[in-house]
Amino acid sequence: MILPIVAYGDPVLRKEGKEIQKDDDSIPKLIENMFETMYNAQGVGLAAPQIGKSLRLFVIDGGPLLEDDEDEQDKEFKKVFINPQILDEQGDEWAFEEGCLSIPSIREDVYRFDQLTIRYFDQDWKEHTETYEGLKARIIQHEYDHIEGVLFTDYLPPLKKRLLKRKLENISKGKIDMRYKMKFPKK
Ligand code: NI
Repeated sequence: MILPIVAYGDPVLRKEGKEIQKDDDSIPKLIENMFETMYNAQGVGLAAPQIGKSLRLFVIDGGPLLEDDEDEQDKEFKKVFINPQILDEQGDEWAFEEGCLSIPSIREDVYRFDQLTIRYFDQDWKEHTETYEGLKARIIQHEYDHIEGVLFTDYLPPLKKRLLKRKLENISKGKIDMRYKMKFPKK
């Protein structure tokens, strides 16, 4: 089922997600719906707060993005992260133009560390600790921010933020061209 994606300005995007309990049997269906919603919107990642659930959960399929990346050997990157914890971030910070399904039509350069180590559970509740770099790390960092109540626009310099203020306000009011189903806080 395709779920409406919550737009910029909704308080759920600013909340810290709650840990998921292992006996929560609504999670497999939620994960399925999140993938369907993400693919429908042509995104490479989607976090639970973006569909209105304040939970520590996000799904990723970076394939479409990694396809065009010369440095990336492994083009497959479909994953579920339950109750993730970033343990460490390393390497140089580099800029990449990010977008977000909750903030359509805005794309801006964001600086992030090149590598990270993350511990999480997959959809079978198997625990993993893994290190990622480059675009894979980038996608994880962006989605991880969502479950911490952080958006990529938070990282922009003050001048840029001021320039985007009106545009962000319009997004929260639903004054945008919509490519997929959304829910607007100020509509
Ligand atoms: Ni996002």
